[in-house]
Amino acid sequence: MKKTLTVLLALGVMGVISANAADAKENWEKNCAKCHGADGTGKTKMGEKLKVKDYTTATAQGALKDEGMTKAIKEGVKEGDSTRMKAYGDVLSDDEVKALVAYFRAFKK
Ligand code: HEC
Repeated sequence: MKKTLTVLLALGVMGVISANAADAKENWEKNCAKCHGADGTGKTKMGEKLKVKDYTTATAQGALKDEGMTKAIKEGVKEGDSTRMKAYGDVLSDDEVKALVAYFRAFKK
């Protein structure tokens, strides 16, 4: 009986995790891929125009901190007065931002 419960619990948790992963992928493709590319390389028209880094490299990923990424996604990225990346704090929930940070990390080769 205890074993059955554990298995059910584990399946439940896995369900939640895969649902989150699907959300992150959807959010990524909808909001982020036009600049960063579906694969994080930034090889898109917009990405090349903005000179977005290739975030599949260990160097680019290593330079990032989870808190910094969260902040960038929520508050946007500015250079002086110009907005390089807009803020998503109003369109994405904290959980969605967190899932996107994990999704972003997974681009590392
Ligand atoms: C208009 C183009 C654009 C869109 C759309 C965009 N970004 Fe960015 N993003 C940038 C630019 C430009 C930078 C600046 C750093 C660089 O050169 O790569 C950046 C930087 C980042 C960084 C690194 C921040 C740091 O700490 O240096 C993260 C993480 C990130 N973006 C995630 C996202 C996520 C997640 C989304 C979607 C919700 C998104 N971006 C949408 C252009 C964009």
